[in-house]
Order: sequence, then C-alpha cells, then structure tokens
Amino acid sequence: MKPLSSRALGVSPSPTVAMDARYKELLARGLPVLSLGAGEPDLPMPQAGIEAATKALSEGKTRYSFMAGLPELRAALSKKFSEENGIAYSPEEILITSGAKQAVFTALLALLDPGDEVIIPSPYWVTYPEAVRLVGGKPVVVDTRFEDGFKLKPEDLRKVITSKSKLLILNSPCNPTGAVYSRAELEALAAVIVEYNLYVLSDEIYEHIVFDGLHCTSPAALNAEMRARTATVNGFSKAYAMQGLRLGYVGAPAAWTKAMIAIQSHAAHHPSTLSQYAGLACLQVSAQVLPEAKKHYLEAREYALSRLKKIPGVSWNDPQGAFYVFLSVQSLLPTIVRSKTDSHKIENSLDLAEYLLEEWHLATVPGVGFGCEGYLRLSFAQPVAYLEKAFDQLEQGLKALSFGS
Ligand SMILES: Cc1ncc(COP(=O)(O)O)c(C=O)c1O
Repeated sequence: MKPLSSRALGVSPSPTVAMDARYKELLARGLPVLSLGAGEPDLPMPQAGIEAATKALSEGKTRYSFMAGLPELRAALSKKFSEENGIAYSPEEILITSGAKQAVFTALLALLDPGDEVIIPSPYWVTYPEAVRLVGGKPVVVDTRFEDGFKLKPEDLRKVITSKSKLLILNSPCNPTGAVYSRAELEALAAVIVEYNLYVLSDEIYEHIVFDGLHCTSPAALNAEMRARTATVNGFSKAYAMQGLRLGYVGAPAAWTKAMIAIQSHAAHHPSTLSQYAGLACLQVSAQVLPEAKKHYLEAREYALSRLKKIPGVSWNDPQGAFYVFLSVQSLLPTIVRSKTDSHKIENSLDLAEYLLEEWHLATVPGVGFGCEGYLRLSFAQPVAYLEKAFDQLEQGLKALSFGS
C-alpha cells in the first residue's frame, strides 16, 4: 500500500487527545470525575435560535442554498462588523463558514503558497500551527512572556520576520491566556505589520467575553492599511453557545473573500442552512443574550480566581477575556508523588494533568498543547456550584504535591 499523504502524516496528534479519551472513559464508568478542560460554553443556546432553526426545518429549508451563506445573514453581519467593530465590510466581503475553525482554514488556503511563513504568538490556540502546516505553510512560533501578559511585543515580532513571512495570526481575547490587546498595543504591532507588508488573521471569537470594562479592538478597524491586509474571523460558538451547530464567518478584503468563496464552493458548498437561520435569530437577540452570558462568565471568573488564591505555588495573569485561566505550575515542577501503592515523578504539564485526572478525578489541559510548558489551562465555563467541587479537587491535588523535589 502506498502511504497516506505526508501532509496528513505530518499533523501532530494533540497531546490532550489520549487524556480526553481517558476522562470520558472514567466518566462512562460512573466515577465522580469533573472537568476544567472543556473549551466550550456551559450555557444553553438562545431560545430564539432554536426556534428559528426548527421553523426553517419545518418550512423545508433543506435544499442547497447560497455558497457564501444566506444573503440576509451576510447583510446582518456586515451591519454587526460596522456597528460593533468599526469595520466596513460589505456583505460581499463576508463568507459564512462551518465554524470559525473552517474560516481559519479557508483564509489560510486562500492566502498561502507552500513555504510561506506564518507568525504565531505562543501560547496559541492548538489549531493554528497544524492548520498552517496542513495548507503547506510554515508556522513560525514566537514566544510571549508571562510578565508581558502574554502579549506579543513589536520588537519580538520584528525579530522573527524574514523575506518569507506572509501572515501574522492574532487572537484577542486569547485562548488559552485570556489576554486582550489594547488599541495602543495593536497600533504598535500594526506599524511593524505595515512596514513589513504582512497580512493578518485576527481571530475574534471570544470578543464578547471580556471583563474589567475592556472592549475588544479589531486590527482591521485601526486604519485603511490594516483593513486592506486583515481577515477578521469570528463565529457563533462562544457568544451564542451554538458550538454544535458549526457556524462561523470571516470578513476580509474583496479579493481575499472571493478566493475563499471559490474554495468553499468546492470544499463545503455552504454551512448548514438551519444553523444560519439560528445564527441570524441569535444576532437579533444579542442585546439581551450577550450581557447575560458575560455576567455568567464574570461570576465564574471571580469564583475561580478566589479559589486559586488559596493554592500555594501557582501564579497567573487575571484573564481579561475568554473563559480560561492559564495557570503557571512551574514552581511545583518537577516533583515526586507518593501514594500507598506508587511513587512517581511528575516532570511536566502533561504528567501533572494526568496525575490530576487519575488521582483526583479532575480533567485539565496541559500547557504543552498550546506551545507553552509549565502551565495548565483551566476553563471556568461552568456554574459556580460545579466549580466549587472542581476547585476542591484541584486544590487538594496540588497541595498534595511536594514542592520542587
Ligand atoms: C481561539 C479559537 N478560535 C476558533 C475556535 C473554533 O471555533 P468554532 O467552534 O467556531 O469552530 C476556538 C474554539 O475553541 C477557539 O478557541
């Protein structure tokens, strides 16, 4: 047999897949296992969206539809981009996709030639480097620092730019760090981006989950030069808890969008029509739904941070957005765990996450999956009553470790 493609064989399996499978196995066995690992909202999807999808189905909206997405949804998103983000994308410059993930892939496919370099600040959302590799590009990871709030500095960006650099991926609010770039920080990066003629993919999927009175700035809204080189990716999974309905979108300059539409026309045709009607209805109830969701995550964030303060040896930057804490466990590692039956060394974040799962029945995500060793990602997208129990398990598990032995 001839082998599978080198492209497919080159995809790194996520280091968390085995652990996720183990978590589900423990759960299926009825063990009291809890999770701070899930990267998804715990809220229900808005009723208006459910009704719209059901109505569309009962009206027989089951045939092929428009390849770039429903015209009324593209028009509504054009209005949303203008009013909320300050970006004037015409409906023709917007593509509706099957989730933000597909929008990222399609934007990369439309932009990159083999060998083009894509700069990805670390810690990063796990998919970016793999998506870049899958479409033939070369991911160039640039580390950010805990003490800079994990935000990319213009001087660090400058250092990794080569003649092959084509695109910078920005993600604010960031999964996993919760970092939100201010307008001034983006302007400083934009000066370098424009100087070196880079494109930008701005993933803004957590834009509505921001705390401390912050507001998200879209790079494309900074000035005409940034608008001309930026694809703005977003979706319905986080803001409207519609993650299973797979609905995302991307706004970009006309030529880039035209190329993406051509790709989507062959790759997916269009996202589910029912999901698009649901998304349209959700946009219409934004004013009620989004503040409620934000309040929910704020309460969960405050609770999570109050519990972390009681655990010695860990540190973190308070998340400014999204629903994650990226917890530094560096001062706990390496360490030895001794139980009645066993004694073993915990070297890194993967070992630590395995220990928490096996011995304390708590799922977390090791930082290594986000390109950053020495951290755990904790998701606080859970009701406080659930977090109480999960943080009890985390606290006991971490307190049971002997410091840095
Ligand atoms: C930063 C980021 N971008 C995109 C996505 C994917 O979103 P979607 O469900 O719309 O594909 C996620 C999901 O976890 C994410 O964290």
